Amino acid sequence: MKLLTRRSALRLGGAALGLAVVPALGAESDSQVLVWKDPYCGCCGGWMAHMQANGFSVEASDVADMDALKDAEGVPLDLRSCHTARVGAYVIEGHVPAAAVRRLLDMRPGNVAGLAVAGMPLGSPGMAAPAGYPPDEYDVVAFGNEQPSVFMRFAGERQF
Ligand code: CU
Ligand code: CU
Repeated sequence: MKLLTRRSALRLGGAALGLAVVPALGAESDSQVLVWKDPYCGCCGGWMAHMQANGFSVEASDVADMDALKDAEGVPLDLRSCHTARVGAYVIEGHVPAAAVRRLLDMRPGNVAGLAVAGMPLGSPGMAAPAGYPPDEYDVVAFGNEQPSVFMRFAGERQF
C-alpha cells in the first residue's frame, strides 16, 4: 500500500470520486458479494468466509492490478486495503464487518458509494488477532459524493 500525506490522499481521493462511475447492478441481489482480490492475498479468504457465515453468497475473481481496479471503483487512496467488493450498488473496500454491510443495505443512502476499512486492522473479520493480542479499534468509513465520514466503529468484530 502506498503511503501518502493525508492532504494529497484526500485531494486525489476527491478527484477519483469525481470520475467514479458506479453502474447499478440491477440483476444482483443484496445478498450476493462479488470480490476482487490479489491471487496471493490470504486474508481475503478469511473475510469471504466471514461474509458467508453471515448469510451472504460470495463470488471471487483474482485481479493482477488491484490499484487500477480500485481507481476504477473510486476507492479513495487513503481508505484502501487488500480486496475490493461489490454488494448491490455499493463498493466494499477491505475487512468491513458484515454488520456494517447489512446496515448500509438497510439504510440505502444515496450519497454513499461504498464503505471502507483502511489497511488491515488486527481482529477485523479475516484478520484474526494472535492469542493474547487485543483487537484493534477501527472505523468503517463511508465514502462517496461527500467528504468521507465514519459510518460505524468496531473493536475486532464488535461494534462500539
Ligand atoms: Cu486483507
Ligand atoms: Cu483481502
